[in-house]
Amino acid sequence: MIKKRYTVTAALPYANGPIHIGHLAGAYVPADIFSRYLRLCNHDVAFICGSDEHGAAIPIRAKKDGISPQEVIDKYHLLIKKSFSDFGISFDNYSRTSSKIHHETAKEFFKDLHSKNVFIEKESEQLYDEAENQFLADRYVEGECPKCGFKEAYGDQCESCGSSLNATDLINPRSKLSGNKPVFKKTKHWFLPLDNFESFLKKWFLKDNKDKWKINVLGQVKSWINEGLKPRAITRDLDWGVPVPLNEAKNKVLYVWFDAPIGYISSTKEWALLTNKDWKPYWKDPETKLVHFIGKDNIVFHCIIFPSILKASEDYILPDNVPANEFLNLEGRKISTSKNWAIWLHEYLLDFPEMQDILRYCLTSNAPENKDNDFTWKDFQAKNNNELVAIFGNFINRVVVLTHKYFEGNSPDKIEINDSDKEILQEIYKYPKLIGELIENYKFRDAANTLIDLARVGNKFLADQEPWKLFKTGDLERVKTIMNISLQICAILGLVCDPFMPSTSKKLKSILNLGHISWKDISLENPINLNRINKAELIFRKIEDEEIERQLQKLNEAK
Ligand code: 2FM
Ligand code: ZN
Repeated sequence: MIKKRYTVTAALPYANGPIHIGHLAGAYVPADIFSRYLRLCNHDVAFICGSDEHGAAIPIRAKKDGISPQEVIDKYHLLIKKSFSDFGISFDNYSRTSSKIHHETAKEFFKDLHSKNVFIEKESEQLYDEAENQFLADRYVEGECPKCGFKEAYGDQCESCGSSLNATDLINPRSKLSGNKPVFKKTKHWFLPLDNFESFLKKWFLKDNKDKWKINVLGQVKSWINEGLKPRAITRDLDWGVPVPLNEAKNKVLYVWFDAPIGYISSTKEWALLTNKDWKPYWKDPETKLVHFIGKDNIVFHCIIFPSILKASEDYILPDNVPANEFLNLEGRKISTSKNWAIWLHEYLLDFPEMQDILRYCLTSNAPENKDNDFTWKDFQAKNNNELVAIFGNFINRVVVLTHKYFEGNSPDKIEINDSDKEILQEIYKYPKLIGELIENYKFRDAANTLIDLARVGNKFLADQEPWKLFKTGDLERVKTIMNISLQICAILGLVCDPFMPSTSKKLKSILNLGHISWKDISLENPINLNRINKAELIFRKIEDEEIERQLQKLNEAK
């Protein structure tokens, strides 16, 4: 197998609130499945993330909570980092954009592009709050969306129709600071002339790589390009962010969407320093595959703006893929932080301790890969009880208990293989390849469902063979073969569930006494070596109706 290098990034979450299930389903669980799988195939992986600590969202939150922006980011950076680690998101580095290395890297990018005359400088009329003495960009201003009429669109984006906006596009704008109607005031900014990148984007995105992208990603990018790309301001009149590194740009900072994606690079640099590696091949070697995992609201930034910045910076690679997900709704409604309509990860773990894998599995098997999807507590319960407990857990438990009962925990050898055994062995050893290919093609939903299919195959095999009857009639040789094959199915399950449910995989491997198994090494010709196994322990537990009722009640109280 050829070892490849991958740089895998997951969107940097804003450090202005905790993480909820929509975040997890949109970017972090798929990115983690992908990275864990690549590592199990022995590839060289840098899985990179960090907190996005700039942008108007942070000072707005600080004002609301009566604390400083620094206190906001310190609080949520730690909370978010802990949630990720509790849910087994295996970042190689989780950094933050307030770090020195990030400020320096973002400034270098700006200076480099500025010296190459990539930007244009322009004076324009921007919205200004006279009471607060502040320009109003992005989330500092709200108003009516010119595209869909939604009354609470932000200055940078309409959350209702998803359009990306300029603050000056809003109808009847209001300041989020004072509530006042803003006035127009002249100010100078630096713009990235996206129109100059049109032919590059058309060739790279719409022509050379057009078959690679997911349909939802291709559709959004196509419509952006077809509408005509315009220069986009990449500086702001704010006092929170990375200062613009020019003497003439006093009190100006870089636009958060200019510095945030550069955060992937600075986080990689930080990781390289910590681990004594060279960061450059992860961003500059054309053999490296760069993959950005994001939600659909981030598509234009990762497929149009950041690639244009990378292209203009010259020796950087461009993304190999951007497998963006659509949105996850909750009980039929849009997840909303402000309306507290969400399942927060840290709260979930209080009610379902050590059940992070269950949520990972449910979010994956119902992932909003091609369209928005709905999470319901009833569905969560059904997936756990009917799939993980009744199919996966039940199979493992029966095999482990029977192996102890018949052979005192010693894995028996295969004695005599008949034709149907041959067929089943051929079938089960196809699963790692099948699941691996689905993961490589970003079809995580199908991959998770295929994993359960393998457990189904195991259950059917046991039900058809009925080793308990053969044991009674004394056909011990046959029982040995059946249990050997069943244990091999358990071992394959232990391997292939690792990217989806890492803690479960660890438990299962410890019951089966399995060491490290490389994904690509096992096959019918090179089957898993079975050892003496340990006693059964509970892998999954049933979720009762009362637990689900309590969650529904909690949600409804928050309304
Ligand atoms: O939408 C968001 O939550 C942004 N903070 C994502 C940034 S992704 C990257 F470019 F940093
Ligand atoms: Zn709109």
